[in-house]
Amino acid sequence: MKELSRKFCVAPMMDWSDRHCRFFHRQLTRHAVLYTEMVTADAVLRGNRERLLGFSSDEHPVALQLGGSDPAKLAAAAEVGAEFGYDEINLNVGCPSDRVQEGRFGACLMAEPGLVADCVRAMRDRVTIPVTVKCRIGIDDQDEERDFQRFIETLADTGCTTFIVHARKAWLKGRAPKENREVPPLDYARVYRLKQAKPELEIIINGGIESLDACDDHLRHVDGVMLGRAAYHDPALLGAVDRRYFDPATPERHRAEALLALVPYAERHIAGGGRLSNITRHVLGLYQGRPRGRLFRRYLSETANGIEARAHIISDAVHLIERGEVAEAAQAAQ
Ligand SMILES: Cc1cc2nc3c(=O)[nH]c(=O)nc-3n(C[C@H](O)[C@H](O)[C@H](O)COP(=O)(O)O)c2cc1C
Repeated sequence: MKELSRKFCVAPMMDWSDRHCRFFHRQLTRHAVLYTEMVTADAVLRGNRERLLGFSSDEHPVALQLGGSDPAKLAAAAEVGAEFGYDEINLNVGCPSDRVQEGRFGACLMAEPGLVADCVRAMRDRVTIPVTVKCRIGIDDQDEERDFQRFIETLADTGCTTFIVHARKAWLKGRAPKENREVPPLDYARVYRLKQAKPELEIIINGGIESLDACDDHLRHVDGVMLGRAAYHDPALLGAVDRRYFDPATPERHRAEALLALVPYAERHIAGGGRLSNITRHVLGLYQGRPRGRLFRRYLSETANGIEARAHIISDAVHLIERGEVAEAAQAAQ
Protein backbone atom coordinates (compact mmCIF):
# COMPACT_ATOMS: atom_id res chain seq x y z
CA MET A 1 0.00 0.00 0.00
CA LYS A 2 1.32 3.45 -0.90
CA GLU A 3 2.37 5.38 2.20
CA LEU A 4 0.19 8.45 2.84
CA SER A 5 1.96 11.77 3.16
CA ARG A 6 0.11 13.95 5.63
CA LYS A 7 2.35 16.95 5.18
CA PHE A 8 -0.71 18.98 4.21
CA CYS A 9 -4.24 18.04 5.27
CA VAL A 10 -7.67 19.63 5.00
CA ALA A 11 -9.62 19.29 8.25
CA PRO A 12 -12.82 17.38 8.96
CA MET A 13 -15.60 19.97 9.11
CA MET A 14 -19.19 19.02 9.83
CA ASP A 15 -21.59 20.28 7.13
CA TRP A 16 -18.63 21.64 5.17
CA SER A 17 -16.15 18.89 4.17
CA ASP A 18 -18.76 16.74 2.44
CA ARG A 19 -18.00 14.81 -0.72
CA HIS A 20 -18.69 17.74 -3.03
CA CYS A 21 -16.41 20.01 -1.07
CA ARG A 22 -13.68 17.37 -1.15
CA PHE A 23 -14.11 16.80 -4.87
CA PHE A 24 -13.72 20.54 -5.41
CA HIS A 25 -10.64 20.73 -3.15
CA ARG A 26 -9.19 17.81 -5.04
CA GLN A 27 -9.33 19.86 -8.23
CA LEU A 28 -6.92 22.29 -6.55
CA THR A 29 -4.52 19.83 -4.95
CA ARG A 30 -3.75 16.26 -5.92
CA HIS A 31 -1.77 15.44 -2.80
CA ALA A 32 -3.36 17.01 0.30
CA VAL A 33 -5.13 14.45 2.48
CA LEU A 34 -8.83 15.35 2.69
CA TYR A 35 -10.86 14.44 5.78
CA THR A 36 -14.58 13.71 5.81
CA GLU A 37 -16.97 15.29 8.25
CA MET A 38 -17.28 13.21 11.41
CA VAL A 39 -19.64 10.25 11.01
CA THR A 40 -20.61 8.40 14.18
CA ALA A 41 -19.99 4.67 14.39
CA ASP A 42 -23.70 4.18 15.12
CA ALA A 43 -24.66 6.03 11.93
CA VAL A 44 -22.26 3.91 9.87
CA LEU A 45 -23.68 0.72 11.35
CA ARG A 46 -27.34 1.67 11.18
CA GLY A 47 -27.67 4.42 8.57
CA ASN A 48 -27.69 4.69 4.80
CA ARG A 49 -24.08 3.85 4.07
CA GLU A 50 -23.96 5.04 0.50
CA ARG A 51 -25.30 8.44 1.54
CA LEU A 52 -23.02 8.72 4.56
CA LEU A 53 -19.84 7.24 3.16
CA GLY A 54 -20.05 7.29 -0.62
CA PHE A 55 -17.33 9.29 -2.35
CA SER A 56 -15.77 9.74 -5.75
CA SER A 57 -12.62 7.77 -6.54
CA ASP A 58 -11.05 11.11 -7.57
CA GLU A 59 -11.03 12.18 -3.92
CA HIS A 60 -8.09 9.99 -2.84
CA PRO A 61 -6.22 10.32 -0.58
CA VAL A 62 -9.25 10.67 1.68
CA ALA A 63 -9.67 9.85 5.36
CA LEU A 64 -12.90 8.90 7.10
CA GLN A 65 -13.36 10.51 10.49
CA LEU A 66 -15.36 8.44 12.97
CA GLY A 67 -16.94 9.44 16.26
CA GLY A 68 -17.76 7.04 19.07
CA SER A 69 -16.47 5.40 22.20
CA ASP A 70 -17.56 1.79 21.86
CA PRO A 71 -14.55 -0.25 20.68
CA ALA A 72 -16.63 -2.97 19.01
CA LYS A 73 -18.83 -0.51 17.12
CA LEU A 74 -15.86 1.63 16.09
CA ALA A 75 -14.03 -1.47 14.85
CA ALA A 76 -17.04 -2.53 12.80
CA ALA A 77 -17.49 0.99 11.42
CA ALA A 78 -13.79 1.22 10.57
CA GLU A 79 -14.09 -2.02 8.64
CA VAL A 80 -17.01 -0.63 6.65
CA GLY A 81 -14.93 2.50 5.94
CA ALA A 82 -12.01 0.40 4.74
CA GLU A 83 -14.35 -1.58 2.50
CA PHE A 84 -15.62 1.67 1.00
CA GLY A 85 -12.03 2.42 0.03
CA TYR A 86 -11.00 5.13 2.48
CA ASP A 87 -7.25 5.53 2.88
CA GLU A 88 -7.29 6.18 6.63
CA ILE A 89 -9.64 6.03 9.59
CA ASN A 90 -9.41 8.95 11.99
CA LEU A 91 -10.96 8.96 15.45
CA ASN A 92 -12.44 12.25 16.65
CA VAL A 93 -11.24 13.06 20.16
CA GLY A 94 -11.40 16.80 19.70
CA CYS A 95 -14.96 17.88 19.08
CA PRO A 96 -16.49 19.62 22.10
CA SER A 97 -20.18 19.95 21.25
CA ASP A 98 -22.82 19.02 23.85
CA ARG A 99 -24.53 16.65 21.47
CA VAL A 100 -21.26 14.82 21.13
CA GLN A 101 -20.64 14.70 24.90
CA GLU A 102 -23.99 13.02 25.49
CA GLY A 103 -22.95 10.22 23.16
CA ARG A 104 -19.59 10.14 25.00
CA PHE A 105 -17.32 10.88 22.15
CA GLY A 106 -15.22 13.75 20.91
CA ALA A 107 -13.06 15.85 23.23
CA CYS A 108 -14.59 14.51 26.47
CA LEU A 109 -12.75 11.26 25.74
CA MET A 110 -9.46 12.98 26.47
CA ALA A 111 -10.37 12.32 30.12
CA GLU A 112 -10.42 8.59 29.38
CA PRO A 113 -7.18 7.65 27.63
CA GLY A 114 -7.62 3.96 28.51
CA LEU A 115 -10.99 3.81 26.75
CA VAL A 116 -9.66 5.68 23.71
CA ALA A 117 -6.74 3.22 23.58
CA ASP A 118 -9.23 0.32 23.61
CA CYS A 119 -11.07 1.96 20.70
CA VAL A 120 -7.92 2.52 18.69
CA ARG A 121 -6.67 -1.00 19.38
CA ALA A 122 -9.98 -2.50 18.29
CA MET A 123 -9.96 -0.50 15.06
CA ARG A 124 -6.32 -1.29 14.33
CA ASP A 125 -7.02 -4.98 14.83
CA ARG A 126 -9.79 -4.86 12.26
CA VAL A 127 -8.34 -2.81 9.38
CA THR A 128 -5.03 -2.65 7.56
CA ILE A 129 -5.28 1.04 6.63
CA PRO A 130 -3.82 3.56 9.12
CA VAL A 131 -5.87 4.51 12.19
CA THR A 132 -5.09 8.02 13.40
CA VAL A 133 -6.37 10.25 16.21
CA LYS A 134 -7.39 13.91 16.18
CA CYS A 135 -7.36 15.51 19.61
CA ARG A 136 -6.87 18.74 21.55
CA ILE A 137 -3.99 19.68 23.86
CA GLY A 138 -6.26 19.36 26.90
CA ILE A 139 -9.77 19.76 28.25
CA ASP A 140 -11.23 21.77 31.12
CA ASP A 141 -8.94 21.46 34.15
CA GLN A 142 -7.10 18.54 32.69
CA ASP A 143 -4.75 20.69 30.71
CA GLU A 144 -1.31 20.13 32.17
CA GLU A 145 1.33 19.24 29.65
CA ARG A 146 1.98 15.94 31.37
CA ASP A 147 -1.74 14.98 31.05
CA PHE A 148 -1.47 15.60 27.31
CA GLN A 149 1.76 13.65 26.93
CA ARG A 150 0.38 10.78 28.97
CA PHE A 151 -2.73 10.72 26.79
CA ILE A 152 -0.59 10.47 23.65
CA GLU A 153 1.72 7.86 25.20
CA THR A 154 -1.24 5.67 26.15
CA LEU A 155 -2.48 5.74 22.57
CA ALA A 156 0.99 5.29 21.10
CA ASP A 157 1.24 2.06 23.11
CA THR A 158 -1.52 0.63 20.90
CA GLY A 159 0.74 1.11 17.88
CA CYS A 160 -1.01 4.28 16.68
CA THR A 161 1.69 6.55 15.27
CA THR A 162 -0.15 9.55 13.81
CA PHE A 163 -1.72 12.30 15.90
CA ILE A 164 -3.43 15.42 14.62
CA VAL A 165 -3.45 17.98 17.38
CA HIS A 166 -5.71 21.02 17.47
CA ALA A 167 -3.40 23.25 19.47
CA ARG A 168 -5.92 24.60 21.95
CA LYS A 169 -7.77 23.01 24.84
CA ALA A 170 -11.52 22.48 24.74
CA TRP A 171 -13.89 23.81 27.36
CA LEU A 172 -16.56 21.15 27.68
CA LYS A 173 -18.91 23.10 29.88
CA GLY A 174 -20.82 26.12 28.79
CA ARG A 175 -19.04 26.90 25.53
CA ALA A 176 -20.45 26.50 22.05
CA PRO A 177 -18.29 24.56 19.57
CA LYS A 178 -17.63 27.75 17.62
CA GLU A 179 -16.26 29.47 20.74
CA ASN A 180 -14.13 26.43 21.39
CA ARG A 181 -12.48 27.01 18.03
CA GLU A 182 -11.68 30.61 18.89
CA VAL A 183 -11.54 31.36 22.60
CA PRO A 184 -9.04 28.98 24.24
CA PRO A 185 -5.60 30.31 23.30
CA LEU A 186 -3.49 28.46 20.77
CA ASP A 187 -0.38 26.83 22.18
CA TYR A 188 1.65 25.63 19.23
CA ALA A 189 4.77 25.24 21.36
CA ARG A 190 3.14 22.42 23.30
CA VAL A 191 2.61 20.51 20.06
CA TYR A 192 6.20 21.17 19.00
CA ARG A 193 7.41 19.83 22.35
CA LEU A 194 5.38 16.67 21.84
CA LYS A 195 7.22 16.09 18.56
CA GLN A 196 10.55 16.73 20.31
CA ALA A 197 9.70 14.30 23.10
CA LYS A 198 8.34 11.65 20.70
CA PRO A 199 10.21 12.03 17.42
CA GLU A 200 9.08 8.57 16.32
CA LEU A 201 5.44 9.76 16.14
CA GLU A 202 3.96 11.62 13.18
CA ILE A 203 2.55 14.87 14.53
CA ILE A 204 0.22 17.04 12.46
CA ILE A 205 -0.55 20.48 13.86
CA ASN A 206 -3.94 22.17 13.50
CA GLY A 207 -5.67 25.34 14.61
CA GLY A 208 -5.61 28.94 13.40
CA ILE A 209 -3.22 28.35 10.49
CA GLU A 210 -4.14 30.87 7.81
CA SER A 211 -1.48 30.88 5.13
CA LEU A 212 1.12 28.71 3.45
CA ASP A 213 3.86 30.90 4.94
CA ALA A 214 2.51 29.99 8.38
CA CYS A 215 2.53 26.32 7.29
CA ASP A 216 6.22 26.64 6.42
CA ASP A 217 6.96 27.83 9.96
CA HIS A 218 5.09 24.93 11.53
CA LEU A 219 6.71 22.39 9.24
CA ARG A 220 10.06 23.27 10.77
CA HIS A 221 8.76 21.73 14.01
CA VAL A 222 6.25 19.03 13.11
CA ASP A 223 5.53 16.58 10.30
CA GLY A 224 2.40 18.07 8.82
CA VAL A 225 -0.21 20.81 8.94
CA MET A 226 -3.98 20.61 8.84
CA LEU A 227 -6.04 23.61 7.75
CA GLY A 228 -9.77 23.92 8.27
CA ARG A 229 -11.43 27.30 7.98
CA ALA A 230 -8.68 28.94 5.92
CA ALA A 231 -8.87 26.18 3.31
CA TYR A 232 -12.65 26.38 3.21
CA HIS A 233 -12.99 30.16 3.04
CA ASP A 234 -9.99 30.75 0.77
CA PRO A 235 -9.68 27.52 -1.21
CA ALA A 236 -7.39 29.11 -3.80
CA LEU A 237 -4.54 28.59 -1.35
CA LEU A 238 -4.87 24.86 -2.04
CA GLY A 239 -3.87 25.54 -5.65
CA ALA A 240 -0.28 26.23 -4.51
CA VAL A 241 0.06 23.27 -2.15
CA ASP A 242 1.28 20.56 -4.56
CA ARG A 243 4.06 22.64 -6.00
CA ARG A 244 5.17 23.90 -2.60
CA TYR A 245 5.05 20.69 -0.59
CA PHE A 246 4.91 17.70 -2.87
CA ASP A 247 6.24 18.22 -6.36
CA PRO A 248 8.07 21.41 -7.39
CA ALA A 249 7.47 20.53 -11.05
CA THR A 250 3.66 20.83 -10.67
CA PRO A 251 2.28 24.10 -12.01
CA GLU A 252 -0.05 26.00 -9.68
CA ARG A 253 -3.61 24.98 -10.31
CA HIS A 254 -5.60 27.91 -11.62
CA ARG A 255 -8.99 28.73 -10.13
CA ALA A 256 -10.77 28.59 -13.49
CA GLU A 257 -9.37 25.12 -14.26
CA ALA A 258 -10.62 23.80 -10.95
CA LEU A 259 -14.08 25.25 -11.56
CA LEU A 260 -14.37 23.95 -15.10
CA ALA A 261 -13.47 20.47 -13.83
CA LEU A 262 -16.59 20.69 -11.68
CA VAL A 263 -18.94 21.06 -14.66
CA PRO A 264 -19.15 17.36 -15.72
CA TYR A 265 -19.21 16.39 -12.04
CA ALA A 266 -22.16 18.74 -11.46
CA GLU A 267 -23.93 17.38 -14.55
CA ARG A 268 -23.73 13.87 -13.12
CA HIS A 269 -24.86 15.03 -9.69
CA ILE A 270 -27.88 16.86 -11.12
CA ALA A 271 -28.74 13.91 -13.38
CA GLY A 272 -28.78 11.77 -10.22
CA GLY A 273 -31.34 14.08 -8.60
CA GLY A 274 -28.94 16.41 -6.74
CA ARG A 275 -28.88 20.18 -6.74
CA LEU A 276 -26.22 22.41 -8.22
CA SER A 277 -26.02 24.42 -5.00
CA ASN A 278 -24.88 21.28 -3.11
CA ILE A 279 -21.65 21.83 -5.03
CA THR A 280 -21.47 25.56 -5.64
CA ARG A 281 -21.92 26.48 -1.97
CA HIS A 282 -18.37 25.27 -1.40
CA VAL A 283 -16.75 27.36 -4.11
CA LEU A 284 -18.01 30.81 -3.10
CA GLY A 285 -14.69 31.82 -1.51
CA LEU A 286 -12.58 30.86 -4.52
CA TYR A 287 -12.02 34.43 -5.69
CA GLN A 288 -11.80 35.75 -2.14
CA GLY A 289 -9.69 38.90 -2.04
CA ARG A 290 -9.67 39.22 -5.85
CA PRO A 291 -11.13 42.33 -7.48
CA ARG A 292 -14.23 40.55 -8.78
CA GLY A 293 -14.58 38.05 -5.94
CA ARG A 294 -17.79 39.61 -4.68
CA LEU A 295 -19.31 39.54 -8.14
CA PHE A 296 -18.46 35.84 -8.44
CA ARG A 297 -20.03 35.06 -5.08
CA ARG A 298 -23.12 37.12 -5.86
CA TYR A 299 -23.56 35.60 -9.32
CA LEU A 300 -23.48 32.06 -7.95
CA SER A 301 -25.67 32.89 -4.97
CA GLU A 302 -28.29 34.40 -7.26
CA THR A 303 -28.26 31.80 -10.03
CA ALA A 304 -27.18 28.44 -8.60
CA ASN A 305 -29.71 27.95 -5.82
CA GLY A 306 -32.88 27.08 -7.75
CA ILE A 307 -34.01 23.51 -8.29
CA GLU A 308 -33.71 24.12 -12.01
CA ALA A 309 -30.12 25.40 -11.87
CA ARG A 310 -27.88 23.58 -14.34
CA ALA A 311 -24.15 22.89 -14.43
CA HIS A 312 -23.40 25.48 -17.15
CA ILE A 313 -23.88 28.15 -14.46
CA ILE A 314 -20.42 27.22 -13.21
CA SER A 315 -18.80 27.84 -16.60
CA ASP A 316 -20.84 31.03 -16.99
CA ALA A 317 -19.41 32.21 -13.67
CA VAL A 318 -15.90 31.38 -14.84
CA HIS A 319 -16.38 33.34 -18.05
CA LEU A 320 -17.88 36.24 -16.18
CA ILE A 321 -14.97 36.57 -13.83
CA GLU A 322 -12.13 35.60 -16.14
CA ARG A 323 -13.34 37.87 -18.93
CA GLY A 324 -13.53 40.63 -16.37
CA GLU A 325 -9.99 39.97 -15.19
CA VAL A 326 -8.65 40.00 -18.74
CA ALA A 327 -10.50 43.23 -19.47
CA GLU A 328 -9.18 44.80 -16.27
CA ALA A 329 -5.62 43.71 -17.06
CA ALA A 330 -5.93 45.18 -20.55
CA GLN A 331 -7.27 48.42 -19.14
CA ALA A 332 -4.46 48.58 -16.60
CA ALA A 333 -1.91 48.02 -19.38
CA GLN A 334 -3.16 51.01 -21.38
C1 LIG B 1 -17.82 24.14 10.53
C2 LIG B 1 -16.81 23.29 11.26
C3 LIG B 1 -17.10 21.95 11.51
C4 LIG B 1 -16.18 21.13 12.17
N1 LIG B 1 -16.44 19.80 12.32
C5 LIG B 1 -15.47 18.98 12.82
C6 LIG B 1 -15.63 17.57 12.81
O1 LIG B 1 -16.62 17.01 12.32
N2 LIG B 1 -14.62 16.81 13.35
C7 LIG B 1 -13.49 17.39 13.88
O2 LIG B 1 -12.59 16.68 14.34
N3 LIG B 1 -13.32 18.72 13.88
C8 LIG B 1 -14.27 19.51 13.35
N4 LIG B 1 -14.04 20.86 13.28
C9 LIG B 1 -12.76 21.41 13.77
C10 LIG B 1 -11.73 21.49 12.64
O3 LIG B 1 -11.43 20.19 12.14
C11 LIG B 1 -10.42 22.14 13.14
O4 LIG B 1 -9.88 21.35 14.16
C12 LIG B 1 -10.68 23.56 13.69
O5 LIG B 1 -11.54 24.30 12.85
C13 LIG B 1 -9.35 24.30 13.87
O6 LIG B 1 -8.68 24.41 12.63
P1 LIG B 1 -8.74 25.76 11.74
O7 LIG B 1 -8.38 26.90 12.66
O8 LIG B 1 -7.73 25.54 10.66
O9 LIG B 1 -10.13 25.90 11.23
C14 LIG B 1 -14.95 21.69 12.63
C15 LIG B 1 -14.66 23.03 12.37
C16 LIG B 1 -15.57 23.83 11.69
C17 LIG B 1 -15.23 25.27 11.40
